[in-house]
Amino acid sequence: MPQGTTPASHRGRAPDLSGQPLLDVRGVTIQYKTQAHLVTATYRVSFKVLQGDRFVVVGPSGCGKSTLLKAVGGYLAPTEGEIRLKGEVVTKPGPDRIMVFQEFDQLLPWMTVLENVMFPLKTTGTLKGKAAVERAMHYIEKVKLTEFANSYPHMLSGGMKQRVAIARGMAMEPDILLMDEPFAALDALTRTRMQDELLALWDEIRFTVLFVTHSIPEAIKLGSRILLLSPHPGQVKAEINSVPRGQENSNEAAALGREIHDMLFADQIEGAPNVANAIAGH
Ligand SMILES: Nc1ncnc2c1ncn2[C@@H]1O[C@H](COP(=O)(O)OP(=O)(O)OP(=O)(O)O)[C@@H](O)[C@H]1O
Ligand SMILES: [Mg+2]
Repeated sequence: MPQGTTPASHRGRAPDLSGQPLLDVRGVTIQYKTQAHLVTATYRVSFKVLQGDRFVVVGPSGCGKSTLLKAVGGYLAPTEGEIRLKGEVVTKPGPDRIMVFQEFDQLLPWMTVLENVMFPLKTTGTLKGKAAVERAMHYIEKVKLTEFANSYPHMLSGGMKQRVAIARGMAMEPDILLMDEPFAALDALTRTRMQDELLALWDEIRFTVLFVTHSIPEAIKLGSRILLLSPHPGQVKAEINSVPRGQENSNEAAALGREIHDMLFADQIEGAPNVANAIAGH
């Protein structure tokens, strides 16, 4: 085990033994082989996501959050451990897991909003014709973009493009929505609004989401459960429950924020203060 890390501590909700978890990540180590090096991105990471969880992974830059999400998506294979979705080992990408990325350019620029949202429905053979249009329009309405259905991506703001990407993901009605810092490139006001909209959507649809962020306030606001990863290589530091919905500005949330910060940086290596600064803010 690499030095400078503490064993994972667990508190909060007891494991649900009545049913299997929707997503079960067990002892997952992921390495990248480059010509010169073998980079260990995550080391023996384990967690379980239950149906309807808003499960947030938080950790400093480079700790392997995106790597983990890509592995859940089936784009990367673990070198050790396994990832199961509904009991089945994940070996490749599938329409049951849809990713939403940080970048604003994840839409196809030559397609309208409606065409973009319909695209995966059609290419995966999930729906076609009128049924695809109806499904797409339903989710476009959910993200409040009905009047922009026939607009092209270049006519939209960054926040609007992210809402299209979310609608596109949700229209597939995946078992789990994988979101990799989807709001990180937005201005603070838009980011807050998008967080509120995501929570409102969750209230309505109760989808399961695995959300990656390096922002502690965002993790507390959005998450029902929060997984803390240590700096590179990412190891589980703790898995905790967040504060109740709508309590993100409470004293309890502030105390939880400090607790998370202290846990994440308990083993901070001297000479790397920029990592702490990067994670403390939005
Ligand atoms: N394709 C790759 N080839 C080699 N190393 C990689 C590759 N992608 C990521 N890494 C390395 O794996 C580690 C984890 O990277 P990852 O992108 O998963 O981190 P992250 O937690 O998402 O960081 P950030 O918060 O900056 O997005 C880093 O050390 C990174 O340099
Ligand atoms: Mg990342």
